[in-house]
Amino acid sequence: MALALAIETSCDDTAAAVVDSSWRVHSSVVESSIDQHRAFGGVVPELAGRAHLTTIGPVVHRALRDAGLDPRAPAIDVVAVTSGPGLIGSLLIGLSAAKAYALAWDVPFVGVNHLEGHLFAPLLERPDLRWPLVTLLVSGGHSMIVRQHGPGEHVVLGETIDDAAGEAYDKVARWLGLTYPGGPEIDRLAGEGDARALQLPVSMTGDDFDFSFSGLKTAVVRATQKNPEVSLADVAASFQGAVAEQLLRKLRRTLETYDDVQGVALAGGVAANSALRRGVEELARDFAIPSLLPSLSMCTDNAAMIAAAGLHRFAHDGPSEFSLSARPNWSLSEVS
Ligand code: KG4
Ligand code: ZN
Repeated sequence: MALALAIETSCDDTAAAVVDSSWRVHSSVVESSIDQHRAFGGVVPELAGRAHLTTIGPVVHRALRDAGLDPRAPAIDVVAVTSGPGLIGSLLIGLSAAKAYALAWDVPFVGVNHLEGHLFAPLLERPDLRWPLVTLLVSGGHSMIVRQHGPGEHVVLGETIDDAAGEAYDKVARWLGLTYPGGPEIDRLAGEGDARALQLPVSMTGDDFDFSFSGLKTAVVRATQKNPEVSLADVAASFQGAVAEQLLRKLRRTLETYDDVQGVALAGGVAANSALRRGVEELARDFAIPSLLPSLSMCTDNAAMIAAAGLHRFAHDGPSEFSLSARPNWSLSEVS
């Protein structure tokens, strides 16, 4: 059985994990620099890069110790690392560290696509799953519907044509004066509000599987200016309702189109959203298939999912060259 150490530094989280080839997670450590970014209303790339540089060593050390390994000479078979997409300065810190560890321990290393990592997150917790799967991958940087025929075999059916779902949450939260990242706060407020308070448009009602969220963000700005008496909770509930409705409509369309699907999964930071989780459970019931909802720590960025994707890539494609560079715009469609 192969044991992987994985490193993830694509955005503001410095993460390391040890996972084996049967997908058992031996350790998973995540250290966030989010507190440094809050005052700026978003992740500041230079601050994120500097934070990774000081945090990466201790985080890897802790992941190895938590897994019961000797940090000086761990019995690791492969080092996996996110090599894109993400912030270039952040990616380079993780990639350099991964190469250094692999060289020092004389083991191969493998570069992993961050989005493919997210697709492995629901799989890690559900060894009983059956294929094919449809996954709604929604994060701060991406929103897409993916059809998976097996681990690492995926086809992107649709994606956002402008903002990502998480980005829309963060921008609306900023407009409402809430702290960054806005998703969790809007989700919490929405629980206390009335989703019918504001009339917001549900975009992209066509037959494709694509999304659009920038018009909704503008609609929230206009509606709140026109109706200043509507409470924050009601605005949050109305916005959350419109986002969930668009995502769930397209997901329903996918399940209607592909009737061989054996499960519907959620992945990415927005997969933590309560309305979306409820909606996907309902959808799964309607289509009599299982829903795969990752635990909250598996939804947001972590290195365990990168380890699982890395073990798969290593087994199928072999190691990466040590000359591998970071790819800030590496799309999932380019990963075969
Ligand atoms: O996957 P992730 O941790 O980082 C990226 O790769 O982007 O996702 C972070 C995003 C942020 O935009 C955040 O506001 C959003 O996920 N998010 C949520 C919730 N929790 C996190 N959005 C809606 N509802 C939530 N409960
Ligand atoms: Zn992510």
